[in-house]
Amino acid sequence: MTLSAPRGTVDILPESSYKWHFIESQARRIAELFGFSEIRTPIFEHAELFMSGIGAGTDIVKKEMYIFKDKKERLLALRPEGTATVMRSVLEHKLFVKPINKLFYMGPYFRYERPQAGRYRQFHQFGLETLGSDSPATDAEIMHAVIMLFNAVGLKNLSLSINSLGCKECRPAYREELIKYLSSQTEHLCIDCNERIEINPMRVLDCKREECRAIISEAPKMPQYLCSKCRDHFAQLQSILDAFRLPYQHNPDIVRGLDYYTGTVFEVLSKSLGAQDAVCGGGRYDLLSEKLGGKQFPAVGAAVGLERLLGLLEKNNVPFPERTPIKLYIISTSSEAEQMVSRILAECREHGIATERDYTARSLKSQMKTAAEINAPYVMIVGSNEFAAGEVSIKRMADGVQTSMAPNSVVKYLLNEEKQ
Ligand code: HAM
Repeated sequence: MTLSAPRGTVDILPESSYKWHFIESQARRIAELFGFSEIRTPIFEHAELFMSGIGAGTDIVKKEMYIFKDKKERLLALRPEGTATVMRSVLEHKLFVKPINKLFYMGPYFRYERPQAGRYRQFHQFGLETLGSDSPATDAEIMHAVIMLFNAVGLKNLSLSINSLGCKECRPAYREELIKYLSSQTEHLCIDCNERIEINPMRVLDCKREECRAIISEAPKMPQYLCSKCRDHFAQLQSILDAFRLPYQHNPDIVRGLDYYTGTVFEVLSKSLGAQDAVCGGGRYDLLSEKLGGKQFPAVGAAVGLERLLGLLEKNNVPFPERTPIKLYIISTSSEAEQMVSRILAECREHGIATERDYTARSLKSQMKTAAEINAPYVMIVGSNEFAAGEVSIKRMADGVQTSMAPNSVVKYLLNEEKQ
C-alpha cells in the first residue's frame, strides 16, 4: 500500500487550514455583502450533465473528467466545475429566477490534468452565479465582487481582462471567418490548434505556444463581428466598470475553455502565478438553461481558484490573521488535582476561553516548555502544595506575574484580564 495522497491532490494540514478559513470567511462575507445565498450541490453528478453543459468537445469533458460507473451501471462524474451543477439544481428544484436569483458556492472540484504549480486534480473554487438577468450590471457586479475578495484578503496588482464572445446571432459569421483564416495557416499552428480548427476554432486564440501566437495576432477578432445588441451590452458593461472604478483591459483573445459562454467573458490574472496565471474566470451563459432542458433564461457567473489565491497570498507574503490562540494552558503535577483541573478546564471552555491542558504527568519544567511552545499567554499551575492549600496559581507570561486564587475565581480573573 502506498501511503501517499493521490497525484495532484494535497492535504490541507493544520499549519495552513487556518489560512483557508480566513479566505473562506472573506469569500462568504463578500458573497453576503452582494446579496448571494449559498447553494451546496453533490460532489458527483450524472456525467451527461457536464457533457451537454460544458460541451463534449472541450478538454474538460474529453480529457479531464473523472468518470465512472456505479454498481447500477449509472455513468457518473466527479464535478469538474460548478456552473452546470448549480444550473441543474436550479432547474430541478424550480428555484426562482425571476426577477433574479444570486447563488454562491465553495468546495472541491476535480479535473484529471497534468499537475504542476497551481494546477491540481482536486482543487477548490469559490463561485458566484446570478440567474435571471441579462443586465450588464450583473456582469459588472460579479467582477466587482471577485475583485473585492482579492482586495479583502490583501491582494493588489491583479488584472481584469474582459471580452465578448458574441451571441448565437453574431458568432456563427465570425466562426466561419476564423475557420477560413486558421485553415490557411495550418502548417504554422501546433497539433492541438490544428485539431481545434473544426471543433472549437475560438479555443485556438487561447493557445500560449510561441509559434501559434504570431498567427493568432493576425487572426480576425470577435469585436469587429459583434451585433449591435452585443456591442451595446459590452459598452454598457465597460461604463459600469468605470463607475465602479474597476480597472480592466479588453483582451479579444479571451475565449475560455467551456462551451456554454455567450457574450461577456472575463479572467482575473496575476503575473506572479507563472503559466497557470488565471486566478478567476467567468462570463455569461444565457443559453445553458435551455441546453440542459429548462426554460431559457440569462445568467452570468465566475469562479475563483482558491489554491491559486492562497498561492498568491503566500508568494506576496500577505499576512494572515492569527489562528484562534489558546489563552490558558493548564499544568498539573498533582494526580489528586485531576477532578479540580477538569472542572476548571470545562468552566473556562464553557465561558468561551480557549483552554488546553497538559495530559501528561511530566515534570513542571517539561510541561512549562510545552506551554511556551503553544504560546499561551496564561499558564495555570497546580502542584501538590497548591492543591493542599485549595488554590491554583496563574502565571501571566507577558510579565511573569504569578497570582494565587481559589479554583472558582479562574474564569473571573481571565475575563477581567481580557477587559484590560
Ligand atoms: P474555470 O476557468 O475552468 O471556470 O475555473 C475557474 C478557476 O478555477 C480558474 O481561474 C482557476 O483559478 C481555478 N482552476 C481551474 N482548474 C484548476 C486546477 N486544475 N487546479 C487549480 N485551480 C484550477 C469555471 O470553472 C467556470 N465554472 C467559472 C464560471 C462560473 N463561469 C460562470 N460561472
